[in-house]
Amino acid sequence: MTAARIVETNEGIQSEVTAEIFDEFAKGMRDKGWNGVTEMISSGIHGGDILEIGPGPGYVGLELAKQINPRTFTGCEISPAMIRIAEKNAKEYGIAARYVQGNGMNMPLPDVSFDCVISNGSMHEWENPVEVFDEIYRVLRPGGRYCITDMRRDIGFLKRYMIYFSTKPKEIRPGFLSSLNASYTQEEIQKLLDSSRLRDGTVKKDFMGLSITGEKN
Ligand SMILES: C[S@@+](CC[C@H](N)C(=O)[O-])C[C@H]1O[C@@H](n2cnc3c(N)ncnc32)[C@H](O)[C@@H]1O
Repeated sequence: MTAARIVETNEGIQSEVTAEIFDEFAKGMRDKGWNGVTEMISSGIHGGDILEIGPGPGYVGLELAKQINPRTFTGCEISPAMIRIAEKNAKEYGIAARYVQGNGMNMPLPDVSFDCVISNGSMHEWENPVEVFDEIYRVLRPGGRYCITDMRRDIGFLKRYMIYFSTKPKEIRPGFLSSLNASYTQEEIQKLLDSSRLRDGTVKKDFMGLSITGEKN
């Protein structure tokens, strides 16, 4: 049986120090090629105006932008510390990304202004995912695509501790566990999606996580 979800607090990832440690972790994932970009592209994410929700240090969106060369790339991120790091990283990539500080539940972005919305590893931190799903619908143009990926809580004991002990730097390990405990199962996300404006989307689970993909009609 899967343990009940334990909601994450806002502490940790929002601070300057944790953002630096997360940057080191995310850079390591990027260097191993574990960024989920191939899956995003095969789900239909293409060029145009792209929005990423919760980019953190930015590597996932920047790797995507490197491959698909979008017209514009915007990140909506709640943590100013993460935005500072993402801006520095975008400069190193030579990509003109724009990061705005905001909450995915109420984004400071105009209606129908994006062709694609992506998000990786952030959904488990959203206070109310349904509000973010509705916001994704609001900012997408008709025919726009979305791809939201995150970990899932029901990966089982073995994978949980295999990943825990291989995660570097070591300081990120407690945060990994609390994120995993705050993440959703496929069934939970399906229920939330059904009560949102993204109800036509598809929820899938894979070895490590889940994805929500679809198109705004
Ligand atoms: C675990 S990190 C993942 C970062 C990045 N997407 C990645 O895959 O490496 C989650 C990020 O989502 C951000 N975040 C959490 N809740 C958010 C919200 N409601 N709106 C916007 N960003 C949020 C956090 O500040 C953090 O930078």
